[in-house]
Amino acid sequence: MHPDGERILLSQEVIRERVTALGEQISRDYAGREVLAVGILKGAMIFLADLVRSITVPVQIDFVAITSYGSSARSSGAVRILKDLDESIAGRHVLVVEDIVDSGLTLNYLAANLAARAPASLKICTLLNKPTRRVVPVSVAYSGFDIPDEFVVGYGLDYAGRHRNLPYIMILRREVYGG
Ligand code: PRP
Repeated sequence: MHPDGERILLSQEVIRERVTALGEQISRDYAGREVLAVGILKGAMIFLADLVRSITVPVQIDFVAITSYGSSARSSGAVRILKDLDESIAGRHVLVVEDIVDSGLTLNYLAANLAARAPASLKICTLLNKPTRRVVPVSVAYSGFDIPDEFVVGYGLDYAGRHRNLPYIMILRREVYGG
């Protein structure tokens, strides 16, 4: 394990099995339809890359990049779109792919924004879910793991831009982030 880690929360093998199962479930649910997987940069990129390879119905991929307006505006849930979708989602079956739902502020905003663009359907798939941290409601259709309120990195999740490349998810040592 990386020396910044306290312990491994989800091993590479455990993640792989769960992501495969999610892909199979999504393939069943979307039988006969085409999915537009919308990844939220940057955290979701690794999960999305693995998930779509477990989906057997036709899939297209697009990305949005967003940032919050800063700590004070954070509680309002206002986020700014840095990079919007490349294409219209009107009439399409949109599956938003996220690495983690924490307070829910990001997806609460983004789901409303996307729903206003008249997709045929809109669902959310997250690898990690911290239900005890929720501030605003988010309707999550697919969730990989409910996890405790710990600072986790790896498999796309970062601390100060680092550790996204770890193939497992580990709990960060408190000394590292000053928690
Ligand atoms: C993380 C994560 C979600 C959001 C979840 O993104 O990818 O988008 O925070 O938190 P919330 O439920 O409290 O809104 P982050 O801002 O760390 O950006 P990143 O994906 O580029 O790492």
